Amino acid sequence: MIKFENIEIRYGDFIAMNNLNLEIREGEFFTFLGPSGCGKTTSLRALVGFIIPSKGKVIVDGKDITNLPVENRNIGMVFQSYALFPTMTVYDNIAFGLKVKKLPKQEIDRKIREVAGKIKITDEQLRKNVSALSGGQQQRVALARAIVLEPRILCLDEPLSNLDAKLRIDMRLELKRLQKELGITTLYVTHDQEEALTLSDRIAVFNNGYIEQVGTPYEIYNESESEFVCDFIGDINCLGEEILSSVNEQLGSHFDIAKTGFVRIERCVDEYKPDHAKITGIVTEREFNGVLTKYTLSCMGQTVKYLEKNDGYKYYKEGEKVNLYIGRQDIMQF
Ligand SMILES: Nc1ncnc2c1ncn2[C@@H]1O[C@H](COP(=O)(O)OP(=O)(O)OP(=O)(O)O)[C@@H](O)[C@H]1O
Ligand SMILES: [Mg+2]
Repeated sequence: MIKFENIEIRYGDFIAMNNLNLEIREGEFFTFLGPSGCGKTTSLRALVGFIIPSKGKVIVDGKDITNLPVENRNIGMVFQSYALFPTMTVYDNIAFGLKVKKLPKQEIDRKIREVAGKIKITDEQLRKNVSALSGGQQQRVALARAIVLEPRILCLDEPLSNLDAKLRIDMRLELKRLQKELGITTLYVTHDQEEALTLSDRIAVFNNGYIEQVGTPYEIYNESESEFVCDFIGDINCLGEEILSSVNEQLGSHFDIAKTGFVRIERCVDEYKPDHAKITGIVTEREFNGVLTKYTLSCMGQTVKYLEKNDGYKYYKEGEKVNLYIGRQDIMQF
């Protein structure tokens, strides 16, 4: 439904995006994930129409919209900073786009009440000034203002980044529910891997002006295609020559000891598993978060981390010896 075709985007001489090729399907929740400065916002802006690419085409429903003005694209956008009008009421903020479209007053009112109901904005809040709302409430208003225009596509640029951790998780769930309910094709930008994994139908992992991998959360996590993706999407251990040699010896495997082996930290376990390599380490650090403890071990001169579910009695101290078991299928090399 949305197609980025051989897109190149420049700021002067600087190429912010190189040869972007992507297809986003109707109704999909699609996420641009990547570290700061990798080109996520830039790519989103090319779709919304704030930036004209120096090469390539943006196609929506088979129509080339590369040069179409923003206001003719019917794409809703929520910015990271919300960009609300602080001195106006919530009601007037949401009404803004509808007034620009010169809709009759009654219809504007009906649409606002409908969207407020969906996004859980109360009548009392509608009458308040935006500046009198909390971050989470303002976030809702920004979303309402975009959705009330019934856009064909919804673009959200780090919409939850200003919220505290708990609220972010609540809003994440709500956003997902709302997107499902509305069935609206959604492009979501974030640098938070957990947000991307929990929300998305598919993810594109960006790195420095390129896309490294496109796939479902499950694929991106379990079948990472590059070291960058593997590292960015989760917590990993990097296994060096000595550990890999030991693994090869124990399992008869053929990992290339000249290259790093990667294993997700939750795949390393401290209970015996058949057909797994055993490596022994000493606890150097432990980080307890209630549900899990993250242990850092020193193994053969290198650092290896692993997670342990809190069962209420097993709790290693610093300096204790631990045997870790790692399976052959969990070690990745690129
Ligand atoms: N208006 C601009 N003029 C010049 N360079 C820009 C401009 N906007 C962005 N850039 C550069 O383009 C690159 C991509 O920026 P972009 O804003 O797309 O990154 P991002 O992935 O959205 O990062 P973040 O997660 O920090 O928002 C960066 O190197 C940035 O410095
Ligand atoms: Mg950005």
